[in-house]
Amino acid sequence: MAMKRVDSLDVMATEPTENYLVGLPGATVREYIRENKTGGQHFVMSIPKGFSSPFGFNSASLDIYVLEGEVCLGEEVMTVGCYTYIPAGMNINELRATKNARLLVFSDREFQFFPKAKGVIDPTADAYVPITDTWKMPWVDPMKDIVKKSTWVNPKSGKQDRPPGVLTKALRKEGKTGEVVALTALAPGYVDPGTEHHPHNECLYLISGDAYIGHTYDYKKQDVKEDLVLHKDFYIGRPPGIRHGPVCTQNGALWLVYLADMYTGIFREVDDWEIRVGTYLAEASFR
Ligand SMILES: [Fe+2]
Repeated sequence: MAMKRVDSLDVMATEPTENYLVGLPGATVREYIRENKTGGQHFVMSIPKGFSSPFGFNSASLDIYVLEGEVCLGEEVMTVGCYTYIPAGMNINELRATKNARLLVFSDREFQFFPKAKGVIDPTADAYVPITDTWKMPWVDPMKDIVKKSTWVNPKSGKQDRPPGVLTKALRKEGKTGEVVALTALAPGYVDPGTEHHPHNECLYLISGDAYIGHTYDYKKQDVKEDLVLHKDFYIGRPPGIRHGPVCTQNGALWLVYLADMYTGIFREVDDWEIRVGTYLAEASFR
C-alpha cells in the first residue's frame, strides 16, 4: 500500500490513543502511518499484563511482531522477536498479555476486530504465517533473500550487490499481495556511501540501534533534510522516488521493514559521503 513520506518520527514519544482499535478496547495505540485510500495502518499497540480479548476475526490482514513483553494467542506464546501474519477474515484465538507487551502491527486496511464471531479468509490475502520465533531464523544475504534488483555494483565482482554489512530475514514475501516484510540488520560501522530510492514504498521501523541518514529529498530536491539520526523506536517512510543516504550506524541497526514489492534499490554516489559518515562515526557513543 502507498504510504506518505515521514523523515524521522520518534514513535514512542507520540501521544498514545486509548480505545482506538475497533473491537479491541483496552489497547493503547500509537499509530504512525495510515493510508487514506485503503485505511491501512502501521502502529505500536501497548497492552498491560492481564489484558485479554476473546476469539474472533479481523477484517484486516495483520503483520504482528513482538517488540516487548509476552502475549498468548490461544495456547501459543509470542515472546519478544516472535512474528505472525494473519490474513483478513481468519479466525483468531483469544489474545492474552502475560507480561506488559508492545506489539508492532501492520494492517492492510482499517483494523476492525469482530469478537466472538467467525470469519472467512480473504482469498486475496497472503498465506497465513504461523507464529515464528525470528531469533531462530538464519540471517541471509539480502541478494538471496529480498532483493529483486540493485544498481549498486560491487567494485570487486562488478556485479549488482548491496554494500557489505547487511543481512536479512524475510518474514513474508512472494505472496499474492507482492508485499515483503523482513528484518534487516546493519553491522556496527556499516556504511552505504550512496543515496538510494525505490520504485516501491519502503517503511522502516528501527527496533534497536541507531541510523544516520546524510540526505533525504524528493526528486525535485524541494524538500531536503540533512543529517537525520534515528534511534530505537524511530520510523522513517520512503515512498517511491524519495532519496535517502548516505547511511551508516554506530551501534548497528535492527529494522522491521515493510516493502510494497521485492526490494529494488537505485543508487547514486554522494560526493561528500566520507565527511558526513566520518563525522557521525567519530562521535560514536555506544549503547
Ligand atoms: Fe531504502
